[in-house]
Amino acid sequence: MNLRRLRLKSNLRDLVRENYLVTNDLIMPIFIKEGLEGKKEISSMPGIYQFGEDSFLDEVNECIELGIKAVILFGIPKLKDSCGSDALDEDGLIARSVRKIKETFKDKIAVITDLCFCEYTEHGHCGIIDPKLKTVDNKATLEISAKQAIVHAKAGADMIAPSGMMDNIVKTLREALDNNGYEHLPIMSYSTKFASAFYGPFRDAAESAPVADEFLPKDRKTYQMDIANKKEALLESLIDEKEGADILMVKPALAFMDIIHLIKENTLKPLCVYNVSGEYSMVKAASMNGWIDYNSLMMEILTSFKRAGADIIITYHAKDAAKLINKGVK
Ligand code: PBG
Repeated sequence: MNLRRLRLKSNLRDLVRENYLVTNDLIMPIFIKEGLEGKKEISSMPGIYQFGEDSFLDEVNECIELGIKAVILFGIPKLKDSCGSDALDEDGLIARSVRKIKETFKDKIAVITDLCFCEYTEHGHCGIIDPKLKTVDNKATLEISAKQAIVHAKAGADMIAPSGMMDNIVKTLREALDNNGYEHLPIMSYSTKFASAFYGPFRDAAESAPVADEFLPKDRKTYQMDIANKKEALLESLIDEKEGADILMVKPALAFMDIIHLIKENTLKPLCVYNVSGEYSMVKAASMNGWIDYNSLMMEILTSFKRAGADIIITYHAKDAAKLINKGVK
């Protein structure tokens, strides 16, 4: 058997390559901080910034010029309270930002809104707290989530992405959107989201870590999934599909390739993976130390997500990867 015959020349290798990363696959996350002037680099995520309301449009414009098709927005408001009021305000930070992007760039780029409460609550958990259970109250959080979805929809969001891991969230949001004239708006559910240590740098960027409190847990294990569970991971996504999710998601990505593959084998819906903050920071840290080649490792990781079954990738590498893809690198 001679398998090397097809590996000897790069044009033949290209001809038989099974998976290519393209700019159409990529979604760039953007952090917008109220009251910030200009932009501020996140120390645990070199190359990634919090943007002020005066500067995030430049970042969106750069994404458009690179051929990236969508951004996902995260807001860091000044006001944090027990129920995440800023997220429910039609003139809140994310609503304002969505409106600005859509007014400026129309449909040159899709705007996806992360729908959660951890950036908006003083305790840093993903919804309203039930003091008896000492965790997020599912029912109360569904009610405010429906309100947040309508705020995002009214502002002009192109897709809503609930990330709080509440039960019945997709059904609740679908009904709320349909009853308010937004039947056309798709839902990308963070359907299988694990309670992962890979989110550390994101919580610096979004200023959303659960606050130390003797009464509340410091992690999200009471609502996000146990990283050890595979059958439950599939169940989570299949339930969201049944409830009406248009796109499913696995998060994190790199240590969860088996889950990506398993879900893809069991659904006909598009599958997104979230290449999360800690995965980005590990690659950056190693490359800044001169231990690995940043570009090659990044392209290998992103292409491997596609091989595993991902159709769409949310990644902090999106701009770097698009620059390479546009130069013909694979
Ligand atoms: C909000 C949310 C989180 C991420 C995206 N949306 C983190 C969390 O659960 O704290 C993590 C993204 C990343 O690490 O890049 N619930």
